[in-house]
Amino acid sequence: MSLVPAGALVTQAAAAGRAVAAFNIITLEHAEAVIEGAERTGLPVILQLSQNAVKFRSGRLLPIARAASACAEAAGVPVGLHLDHVQSSELLRQAVDAGFGSVMYDAARLPYGENLEATRSAADWAHANGLWIEAELGEVGGKDGAAPPDPHAPGARTDPDEARRFVADSGVDALAVAIGSSHAMTSRTASLDHALLGRLAKAVEVPLVLHGSSGLPDSELAAAVAGGIRKVNIGTALNVAMTEAIRTHLTPADPRPYLTAARSAMAATAAAMIAALG
Ligand code: G3H
Ligand code: ZN
Repeated sequence: MSLVPAGALVTQAAAAGRAVAAFNIITLEHAEAVIEGAERTGLPVILQLSQNAVKFRSGRLLPIARAASACAEAAGVPVGLHLDHVQSSELLRQAVDAGFGSVMYDAARLPYGENLEATRSAADWAHANGLWIEAELGEVGGKDGAAPPDPHAPGARTDPDEARRFVADSGVDALAVAIGSSHAMTSRTASLDHALLGRLAKAVEVPLVLHGSSGLPDSELAAAVAGGIRKVNIGTALNVAMTEAIRTHLTPADPRPYLTAARSAMAATAAAMIAALG
């Protein structure tokens, strides 16, 4: 089993009409918990590390990347490693040596032409270095504590014709689309624009990726996969589970009881959300 290229997991999921869950990890406990949750379901999973998580780790990618690789190698299910929401070219260029098979290059905050130019150059570099690359068009809001964008604002949702051109002109292997989800939601109350997803799935040949999936109830997650989403990114749901468990089990000195509870809570969340994808 163990460590496999994340892009291959997405390709296999797409061929089977399914989606692979990709969880954002911050600590070693996140990585252990996600793998435990995936093992319970018997399904492959992706561990992803965002540029923000690298910043939290004092800008050092290698220690947490190596820990995640070691967890993946010992796993009982296939596990991919993915570098997520990369804006820095310097971080992008560390991906291969740090053991990542894929990256998400995020220039979605830029106007269309600048996003395309930056993404094409990242894709050229990624492919020359054997990496699978995901990009974003239309901005999924809520990143870095920002308020979600007005869903009716131009560019807030992904336009299918623009998406087709963007993929063809940039050469990316997967596309993250803005269809109503938003990052960092702590309640599962969001709903997606399923008609738009249907149009995007018809227009775009590469796998579609859903970001901000913590805010979606199980029924919306299942409908997203049925509608053509092939990679489902989940972060906040793990952090909510971890934080609640630590608050309940906090001890004055020994971190092991509350980290054990946190890991179990995250594993249960991961297993339930993987199962919800169908
Ligand atoms: O790229 C990461 C995801 O989009 C996670 O979003 O924390 O809202 O689940 P989330
Ligand atoms: Zn995201």
